[in-house]
Amino acid sequence: MIIHGGKPLHGTVPVSGSKNTALPILIAALLTDEPVRLTNVPRLRDVTTTLGLLTGLGAEARWTGDNEVVVHARKICSHVAPYELVKTMRASFLVLGPLLAREGRARVSTPGGCAIGARPVNLHIGGIRALGAKIQFRHGYVEAHAPELKGGRVWLDNPSVGATENIMMAAARASGITQIENAAREPEIVHLAAMLSAMGARIRGAGTHVIEIEGVARLRGCEHQIATDRIEAGSLMVAAAITGGDVAITDAPLEYLEAVTTKLGEAGVLIEAGEGQVRVRRGANLRPVELRTLPYPGFPTDLQAQMMALLTQATGTSVITETIFENRFMHAQELIRMGGDIVMKGPTAVVRGPSRLQGAPVMATDLRASMSLILAGLAAENTTEIGRVYHLDRGYEALEKKLKSLGAQIERVPE
Ligand code: UD1
Repeated sequence: MIIHGGKPLHGTVPVSGSKNTALPILIAALLTDEPVRLTNVPRLRDVTTTLGLLTGLGAEARWTGDNEVVVHARKICSHVAPYELVKTMRASFLVLGPLLAREGRARVSTPGGCAIGARPVNLHIGGIRALGAKIQFRHGYVEAHAPELKGGRVWLDNPSVGATENIMMAAARASGITQIENAAREPEIVHLAAMLSAMGARIRGAGTHVIEIEGVARLRGCEHQIATDRIEAGSLMVAAAITGGDVAITDAPLEYLEAVTTKLGEAGVLIEAGEGQVRVRRGANLRPVELRTLPYPGFPTDLQAQMMALLTQATGTSVITETIFENRFMHAQELIRMGGDIVMKGPTAVVRGPSRLQGAPVMATDLRASMSLILAGLAAENTTEIGRVYHLDRGYEALEKKLKSLGAQIERVPE
């Protein structure tokens, strides 16, 4: 990606459907033999990967419109999620619960390490075991059997989003009642619960620490609209602020962005919510902030890298503490190469500003890190060249097009 920076962004830009909402919901369609129609599905590589995963299991899964997908798992003909898929997209591990619930068995590759941390799956496994499944680890795969899943009590050591989703899906078709304690409270959990409820599941407490699921024997097809992406919306807010622009963002899910708008406000970014849109501008000077990533409703780890890019432009010393993933500062080294003044110690990064960011060749290491470098590039003098931008295509729909429509000079060239 080549960016000629230094141009304030102006105009109106829409937010796409949420990746992290779409993936579990696509996978939940495995729980019924009836068709599930999903709208506002973002065109992203992770969605294509998920459609491939579902097709491999025997479902029909295809695009039926620009942003519409139909999944019809009339029959399941395989119960294997292969390493080749799970290693490219960890969310593939979410088929474990639905396959077990529907077929009584599943063989799912363990995901392995990840650029941002170890990311184990012990909480998924513990929860599925509590529903009566027998689980063995063989040759890098989780092999699970359960002629019948039975509701049970699950206490999560930490409120993992993926584990909560996996257990909810399995429990929706288990016999009896399941309670998940210390469940994740992310909006994605609330959206999954809404979709499962539309399929006939009985779920209470989604969005709180305790979720109760009363299993039912059968789930039916449904129609569901994927909510807009809170992380994309937050990233676009930072884009407006870091370039000193003035941008109206439509369909931003502000109700889920309170921690983000609060921190942006503390930093001196002006945010005005209007009807169906939010206007974002930079105030006179950006101020430093202290922020700590936390499970929802805390500040999302998926916006930490973008915030770090912004804080290089604040006058004073900001402190960022990452508490969710142990290795999520890879973007910092690249921001330093662009002129950022950042010192890291363990989970904490100290960012001193304002720095004059200068264009440089840099390398993206993961999805959100790519966005952080794009944001820095938009604010930097001269030309920034970002390598490995394929990470972006996993999670930001039509990003260049959107940024260009706001006046950014950005283009993709073959590596
Ligand atoms: C989801 C999001 C991801 C986001 C993350 C945290 C999707 C597809 N991805 O990832 O974008 O950054 O939530 O908000 O929705 N953990 C364990 N054992 C487990 C599971 C998790 O120790 O079995 C740990 C992880 O290593 C991590 C923490 O729990 O330190 C949170 O991870 P989790 O909430 O599970 O993240 P994901 O669901 O993988």
